[in-house]
Amino acid sequence: MKYYVKTFGCQMNEHDSQILAGILDNYTDEVMEVGSEKNELTEDIWQADIIVVNTCCIRESAETKILGYLGSLKKYKTANPNVILVVCGCMAQESGAKERIKKRAPHIDIIFGTFNLPKLQDYIREYRHYRQFIYDVTETPGLEKAVLPVHQDIQAFKGKVNIIYGCNNFCAYCIVPYVRGRERSRSIAHILDEVKAIAAAGGKEVMLLGQNVNSYGKDFSDGGCHHFATLLEEVSKVEGIERIRYMSAHPKDFYVELIDTIAALPKVCKHFHLPLQSGCNQTLKDMNRGYTTEQYWHILEAIRKKIPESSITTDMIVGFPGESESDFQETLAFVDNCAFDDAYTFLYSPRTGTAAAKREDQLPEEIKNQRLQQLLEIQNKHSLANNQKLVGKEQLVLVEGKSKNNQSVWTGRTDTNKIVNIPAAIGEIDYTGMFMPVKITTAKTWYLTGEFIR
Ligand code: 5AD
Ligand code: SF4
Repeated sequence: MKYYVKTFGCQMNEHDSQILAGILDNYTDEVMEVGSEKNELTEDIWQADIIVVNTCCIRESAETKILGYLGSLKKYKTANPNVILVVCGCMAQESGAKERIKKRAPHIDIIFGTFNLPKLQDYIREYRHYRQFIYDVTETPGLEKAVLPVHQDIQAFKGKVNIIYGCNNFCAYCIVPYVRGRERSRSIAHILDEVKAIAAAGGKEVMLLGQNVNSYGKDFSDGGCHHFATLLEEVSKVEGIERIRYMSAHPKDFYVELIDTIAALPKVCKHFHLPLQSGCNQTLKDMNRGYTTEQYWHILEAIRKKIPESSITTDMIVGFPGESESDFQETLAFVDNCAFDDAYTFLYSPRTGTAAAKREDQLPEEIKNQRLQQLLEIQNKHSLANNQKLVGKEQLVLVEGKSKNNQSVWTGRTDTNKIVNIPAAIGEIDYTGMFMPVKITTAKTWYLTGEFIR
């Protein structure tokens, strides 16, 4: 059996797709003769017997794109009526999704939600047997306790591990708590087992994943808020793992002691991704973010004081309902002061069911677009200036491979998560997965260029 997996959305989804692939690698049923068929991930969708689409619904633009993609899958079903089309992930979990998906793509065979990842094998078996549409978005408990197979990535030097599922924060704009449920932490033992498996397979970098990693362990019996720091210490002890990243942290839970822990752990990358979302206190309050710009600034100062070489990146939303021109000017001024290394900037997108979508003071798209441009202008200036500070300096780069668009350059990342491109010479050995000292020669807004120090 050959299967194809298409992923939309964030790193959590990318990792969930590796689990879906892991489940399919191990798939068996009574129709299959034992040993006669090897299950294989294929890059060629035309070859696939099973097509899995892992979806995202964070913004409307994602959904529009996905619905178009699902519609386009009809041709594979027409060419091969036995092919099984599966849709899962956040969009599948959303209320009303079944109707929307079926209207646009009646050829989909199985739709299941984010709580039921471990049941993929059962759905496929059932479908192969009865050939009847399956829909399951039951909020089945226990996902965090499941030990699931993870498909080995080609980029084996890097691995991802879920540490906590769900989110309790209910930011006014965000659909995540509705489609991923409340926070459930995985046990430290399960996490360490997966980190060790990554290391045993040659992995050097691990990314700890969660909607809000700072909440890790708050649902354990002692309810303590030290568990994330403890986890970082434990993961640091895993031999072979040289870099530890995490995604995403929430500024409201980023206490100063955690910065001390990170400063003391050399393997934990000195990159802080702290989504600010808005630089105006009124908007932050309306967004239900749980911090003020003053509190955010306090964290930023502490990071820069304790770890001067660190990089700090953020997420921003422009055009939140009720954001006035002066609110937005406050955001611009604050972002200018913060001087982030990079920012992911988004136009506010109303999501059905969230508090912000119910507001009547939605802003026109034109204003949102104008604001995005203004914000980008300020941010790009800082991205470039921060990158320029590294010119002439030496950085340790984990080489990820040849650049996708240019086979004559190697590409990799610094500890601080900056992309570095290095010209490749003919006949060189393959540096993929190696830590290489690099001298930075030029800086651009989005990346650095350098030379290997041999
Ligand atoms: N509209 C625009 N951006 C959003 N994000 C989350 N929800 C929305 C929305 N409704 C952004 C936030 C978050 C990032 C992952 O996506 O900035 O940090
Ligand atoms: Fe969404 Fe806020 Fe939870 Fe992040 S913290 S997933 S933005 S609700």
